[in-house]
Amino acid sequence: MIAQRLIGKQVGRGAFGIAREVKATEKKFGKDSVINSTLGTFFCEDEKLGVLELVNKTYRELESPDIYGYAAGVSGSAEYKEAVKKSIFGTHCEEIVKNSFVDVASTPGGTGAIYTAFKGYGNDGNTVLLPEYMWDAYVHITGANRLNNVIYKLFDGNKFNTKDFSEKMLEVVKRDGRVLAVINDPCQNPTGYSLSFEEWKEVVEILKEASKYGEVILINDIAYLDYDFRGRDNAREYMNLFLGLPENVLILFAYSMSKSFTSYGLRTGAIVALSSSKKVIDEFTVVAEYLCRSSWSNVSRGGMALLVKAYEDENIINGINAERDQWVEILKKRAEIFERKSEEVGLAYCPFSSGFFLTIPLEKNKEEIVNDLKEKKVFVLPIKNGIRIAICSISCKKLEILPKLIKESIDKFNK
Ligand SMILES: Cc1ncc(COP(=O)(O)O)c(C=O)c1O
Repeated sequence: MIAQRLIGKQVGRGAFGIAREVKATEKKFGKDSVINSTLGTFFCEDEKLGVLELVNKTYRELESPDIYGYAAGVSGSAEYKEAVKKSIFGTHCEEIVKNSFVDVASTPGGTGAIYTAFKGYGNDGNTVLLPEYMWDAYVHITGANRLNNVIYKLFDGNKFNTKDFSEKMLEVVKRDGRVLAVINDPCQNPTGYSLSFEEWKEVVEILKEASKYGEVILINDIAYLDYDFRGRDNAREYMNLFLGLPENVLILFAYSMSKSFTSYGLRTGAIVALSSSKKVIDEFTVVAEYLCRSSWSNVSRGGMALLVKAYEDENIINGINAERDQWVEILKKRAEIFERKSEEVGLAYCPFSSGFFLTIPLEKNKEEIVNDLKEKKVFVLPIKNGIRIAICSISCKKLEILPKLIKESIDKFNK
């Protein structure tokens, strides 16, 4: 019955599937004896979902029409679009907006932004470059939009693999006259890697080189932007490199309020286009609105109103940032524990900089190892070529013992 293009498509069990098993084990043995590393949401040290208090207060104080009414404008209100720009570009906002063309369309979370980017800029059969370790939704969204994907190697030793990224990008653009590429940065899901400013410079040179052969669309997924251990300003410094690019290079930011504003369930995000060409952005404005109307129509008015209110009042946004910064400190501590304990037992992990996750690379016997960990009441997310450790959701106390448990399970199967 199902449409031809969807035959065989499914999301698999993923994190949401395993969550049910975790709940059942917690119920049987108590929460203290279970380590749940499956979900990508921030949990405080008491293992309760982290909700930024000032975000909650600001949302609850919104007027009823601001929550229950339809959004003003299919692709979001003008105020929301301004707030999104401030949220993405931070202290660089004025300079970036003055020296390029930028427009915004609201989307249901970062997922909606990725969907719009692929749907809006991928012709049937085009190829999207995706990182070797990645958020698996990218693959599903290419699949739902009749796009192919090619995987680029993420690392060369401890660094971003600019060579492989460049080779793959040139190969595709020379063949198709167009290439789309996703870089999830900073705080990549699932490795926690962040490109340095120098590495971004190299990436921008690659985009320029590729643009000699066709259209280049870079999708920069910034879902974890506000959790960068380098601090808010440093995390955004690379964005200035996107100014003055050739007119056939388009930068699309996939923006999400889910993590930065702990608004996972409000489903509010945006796709933000940046270009040197007014024509490219005018076209984006019209088509992004069309894509909103022809899919979800418009997004949560309350979610958008929350961001607007936060940026209208410096005290609110500064307060939210300060609260979140305390969590960044907790994440730093958790990462330090995990790294130290891993080194003690000789557990290898992918290059890590900051954010919610780390990755243990694993080529062989993944299923056996994941099942063995379950026996010890440890639930980790199996991903392609590895397992993901969600330091965002594990307390410091549990992280002290986790590397040893993982190492023992690996050693049991991979001698
Ligand atoms: C890398 C990455 N991008 C985007 C998203 C989108 O999240 P949302 O649709 O909730 O904004 C997520 C969520 O887990 C993610 O991990």
